[in-house]
Formats: sequence, structure tokens, C-alpha cells
Amino acid sequence: MAMPDSLPKSVRIVEVGPRDGLQNEPGDIIPTAVKVELINRLADAGLSYVESASFVSPKWVPQMGDATDVMQTIERKPGVTYAALTPNLKGLEGAIAAGADEVAVFGAASEAFTQKNINCSIKESLERFVPVIERAREANIRVRGYVSTVMGCPYEGDIAPAQVASVCRDLFDMGCYEISLGDTIGVGTPIKAKKMLEAVAAEIPVEKLAAHFHDTYGQALANLYSVIEEGVAVVDTSVAGLGGCPYAKGASGNVATEDVLYMLNGLGIETGVDLNKLVQTSHWITAQLGRANGSKVALAVGCE
Ligand code: HMG
Ligand code: MG
Repeated sequence: MAMPDSLPKSVRIVEVGPRDGLQNEPGDIIPTAVKVELINRLADAGLSYVESASFVSPKWVPQMGDATDVMQTIERKPGVTYAALTPNLKGLEGAIAAGADEVAVFGAASEAFTQKNINCSIKESLERFVPVIERAREANIRVRGYVSTVMGCPYEGDIAPAQVASVCRDLFDMGCYEISLGDTIGVGTPIKAKKMLEAVAAEIPVEKLAAHFHDTYGQALANLYSVIEEGVAVVDTSVAGLGGCPYAKGASGNVATEDVLYMLNGLGIETGVDLNKLVQTSHWITAQLGRANGSKVALAVGCE
């Protein structure tokens, strides 16, 4: 049977495990060497974009406190983009000094979440990003823009698609080359995802959008399929489904990279990622962290 014409031929996977996956890990600070080996292994598995660190306040997110060491110690595989989160100019300067290839600013469609996550209003956050984007442009560094809570907020509940579209539009107009749509607490369902995407795609070309779906309610793969059908061809994922957000109570990890890869492979969509290498990395990192593997595919394939 032929695949539907609406599906893209290839999808770019943005691996966020070393950042989104590890930022909320409870317990001891994960050794820098483990973070570095994880990033190196992910690049070796064929991931061409690895969000590797976060230049945020270590008081707010202690697990990312070694961002500079991580960025300076990883092997730089040619063709791989090693990116970092930068909430303000201080973070951007740190990321530039540490050699980040790309950075990301992160806002939200919900006032309450913005306040809890980055300690300011939506309007203030956008004002704060203006000099970050300008300075990054001077340094020839591309800026990605995240918008959190696109399908619901842990504090405000439902968020109107028009509100999501408005914040996305602002970030895009300010110079973010791509907008990543975060279902931060994984509350979306497929039709909701489609409606949210339609509202955003009415403002921004769909090829400039990425889907960043957490899997708290087990809906992420279904939601992803529904937006891929609408033309989204960039997907954020986390190896072993690691992660959560420290300011989103109950949020679990991003959809697992292995699970997305298995689905895309089945759809005949190219990614350039080696599933077996990825699965072995998944088992390795969960053993390092002493936690259960959040990827069904990793469990099905098993450990070599
Ligand atoms: P603030 O307290 O309002 O900032 O925090 P401030 O400017 O008043 O500074 C307070 C202290 O932080 C000062 O230190 C600064 O130097 C320091 P002190 O004088 O008290 O010793 N500081 C920094 N240190 C290191 N790097 C920096 C930095 N900036 C200030 N860049 C701030 C505002 C944004 C800094 C804080 O709220 C913060 O760091 N928040 C980070 C929150 C975060 O990382 N959340 C997780 C990532 S977002 C996410 O996971 C969602 C996403 O995955 C998408 C989705 O799923 O929806 C992207
Ligand atoms: Mg996230």
C-alpha cells in the first residue's frame, strides 16, 4: 500500500534528552562525564541535532549547572548541531563562550507558566529575548524559539489556540528561525493538536514549526502523527523518554526518540538515525541513571 502523499519524505529529529531529559532528574547531580558520553553516543547514532545543555540559573535548575564543561568536553562530530537553551543575555554569553552552535529562547502561551518557569510575564519575556536574538545574530548563531503549554497549562488549564499562535508569531517575527510547539505536560489529543497546529500555521509557514510533545498521558505518538500529516517535519524527542520540566508539576518526559523512530521507519520516512545504536544508548543511559526505560521500543528490542 502506498503511503499518503501528505506525509513528508524525511523528518529532522531534534534530540533533547541531554537537556530536557536530564534537567529534572531527581537525586544527585549527574556527572559531567555521563552527560558528555550521552551526547557523543547520540551523535554517533546519527542524530544531527542534539540539544546538549542549558545556560540557566543553577539555583533554578541545578542539573544544568555544568553546561560550560559539557559543551567544552563533547566531541564535535561534523554535521551535528550542538545547541543550548539561553533565557537571557547572561545565558547567551555563556553559550557563545562555550561554543554552542545554536541557542534557543523559551517562552510560553500561558502567563502563569511563564511566571513559574522564567520569573516574568509573557510581555517581559518577549522584551528580554530581543537583545538575546540580536546578540546571537551578531555572533552568527541561529535562535530557535520554544513556546510551552500549547495544549494546556498545569496552572491555567486549557490555552486557546489563538493565544498560542500569537506568542509563536511574536517569536517568529523577532527572528527565531523555527518555533517548537511544546505540549509541556502532555495533555493534548490528536484533534486538539491538529487544531492548535492549524491556528499556528495560519500565522507561520508549517515548515518553520517543530513538535515538542511530552508523553504524560501516552498521547504523544498519536499527536505527532496528526501534525506530521499536516506537514510538520521537525520533531523533538528524548532518548528513553527521559525527562520532564521542573516548573510543570506531573510532566513526564518527551516522547521517546526510539518510539518516534520506529514509527517513522514504518512510515518510510527518513531520519538518518540508526535504531539499534540508539536503543543501546537508551539502555546505557537508563542504567547510568538507575531508572526505568520510558521507551517501549527500547524494551521490545532489548539490550545487546
Ligand atoms: P531571575 O531570578 O528572575 O533572574 O531568574 P535574575 O536576573 O534576577 O538573576 C537571579 C540570579 O540568577 C543571579 O544570581 C543571576 O546572576 C543568576 P545571584 O546574583 O542571585 O547569585 N542568573 C544566571 N545564572 C546563570 N545563567 C543564567 C542566569 N541568569 C541569571 N542564564 C531566570 C530568571 C530566567 C534566570 C530563571 O528563572 C531561570 O534560570 N529559569 C530557568 C527555567 C528552566 O530552565 N526551565 C526548564 C527549561 S524550559 C522547558 O523545559 C520547556 C521546554 O522543554 C518546552 C516544553 O516542553 O514546553 C523548552
Ligand atoms: Mg520540554
